[in-house]
Amino acid sequence: PRTLALILAAGSGSRAGGRWPKQFATVAGKPMLLHAVELLGRHPAIDGVVVVAAPERMAQVRALIGDAALVEGGATRRESVAAGLAALPEDAERVLVHDAARPFVPYAVIDRVVAALDDHDGATPVLAVADTLVRGHDSMLGDVVPRAGLHRVQTPQGFRLAALRAAHAAWPEGDEATDDTQMVRRLGGSVALVQGDPMLEKVTYPEDFAAAESRVQWESR
Ligand code: CTP
Ligand code: MG
Repeated sequence: PRTLALILAAGSGSRAGGRWPKQFATVAGKPMLLHAVELLGRHPAIDGVVVVAAPERMAQVRALIGDAALVEGGATRRESVAAGLAALPEDAERVLVHDAARPFVPYAVIDRVVAALDDHDGATPVLAVADTLVRGHDSMLGDVVPRAGLHRVQTPQGFRLAALRAAHAAWPEGDEATDDTQMVRRLGGSVALVQGDPMLEKVTYPEDFAAAESRVQWESR
């Protein structure tokens, strides 16, 4: 099936700070966005890459991504995905939605996400929660939240395009979703969990840049 990758790079990276949005920061010798574009674009199951960027950064991103397609994003992640979906080629059947803030995309994760779409409307890589989880009340320890069955959600998330388009069309304006799988679920779609990878950890805060860099060093020892 014809499969496109949608790479989300229209955020402002406010929590990461820095002089420009985090997806343009260099990690392991390249801007994070470029790592994601190259790794997804190189996978044999992916037929093309579409990058979603902020309107004021179109020229900068164009210069970075070569011949990948480029679309203007929106004010929220959900709106950026919607803009990307609207720009996919007519014959696209599946889409992988990925955060540019997760620069290192292992082939094996793409394999698992794509394979799960044979049987499901969507698929997301996850990591099991390892730490003890507790509620806090005014800086005091509250109840433990049993972690059995809890996962941390990563990207790339894969979808049958019709299912994701329907989910976005039905989503109430003003309601914010932090990822696409919850939107597909709300319409009753089936979303598979596949094994994620620590390499896919998102860069969110300033200290995460060094963590990403050190994971690459570790991998290539
Ligand atoms: N994203 C996007 N369009 C938006 C908001 C986010 O394309 N309007 C993208 C970001 O560029 C990022 C991914 O969605 O690759 C995950 O979002 P997040 O980590 O929250 O990035 P930012 O929104 O840029 O960061 P922050 O929330 O700290 O401002
Ligand atoms: Mg954000």
